[in-house]
Amino acid sequence: MTAASRIVVAISGASGAIYGIRALETIRLRRELELHLVVSSGARATIAYETDRSYEDVVALADVVHDEKDLAAPLASGTFLTGGMLVAPCSIRTMAAIANALDDNLIVRAADVHLKERRKLVLMVRETPLNATHLRLMRELTLAGAVILPPVPGFYQKPKTLMDVVDHSVGKALDQLGVEHALFRRWTGPDRPRVS
Ligand SMILES: Cc1cc2nc3c(=O)[nH]c(=O)nc-3n(C[C@H](O)[C@H](O)[C@H](O)COP(=O)(O)O)c2cc1C
Repeated sequence: MTAASRIVVAISGASGAIYGIRALETIRLRRELELHLVVSSGARATIAYETDRSYEDVVALADVVHDEKDLAAPLASGTFLTGGMLVAPCSIRTMAAIANALDDNLIVRAADVHLKERRKLVLMVRETPLNATHLRLMRELTLAGAVILPPVPGFYQKPKTLMDVVDHSVGKALDQLGVEHALFRRWTGPDRPRVS
């Protein structure tokens, strides 16, 4: 097991639990990666409201599941090496706690560890519209090294289903973590009529 092969995924209570679930399903295809998962109590509610998966289905996708209250978990320490962390979706509450280093649950503590150890931290912040406080905290997190990656769909790939839209955003997040995937076709330029 190398540091780079350990990936942390956290699901917080913003709308869009499907983003975290899709990330887990995609990372799971890479059997060489060790997948660590933390699910907030808010996310347990959104999983139930928004998806047809049970909490048990979701946690079964991970190799190791940590309780969000367990501040003695390995993820709470910088000595536990990882290849990066994704929070998908990231609520404004969790984003604000990370921005202010309020490390009172394991998602926030693990995110803070990633920032202090200068490791990759990707936050799929989901809220709209955004107020000045949200934008200020996003700026501060960017300066601290986080990647703010809201699930903003692109339409140049002509999505046909809702999952095409989800896959585009999740694929962008996994690109940041260096996780190979086939969630979308990469842009190679517009299809142009052939000139003979
Ligand atoms: C159905 C539902 C949808 C929600 N959607 C959002 C959202 O999109 N963004 C957000 O920041 N909070 C959203 N919330 C509120 C969060 O769940 C709430 O702030 C919670 O305290 C977040 O806790 P956590 O960050 O520990 O998961 C939603 C709550 C519910 C019940």
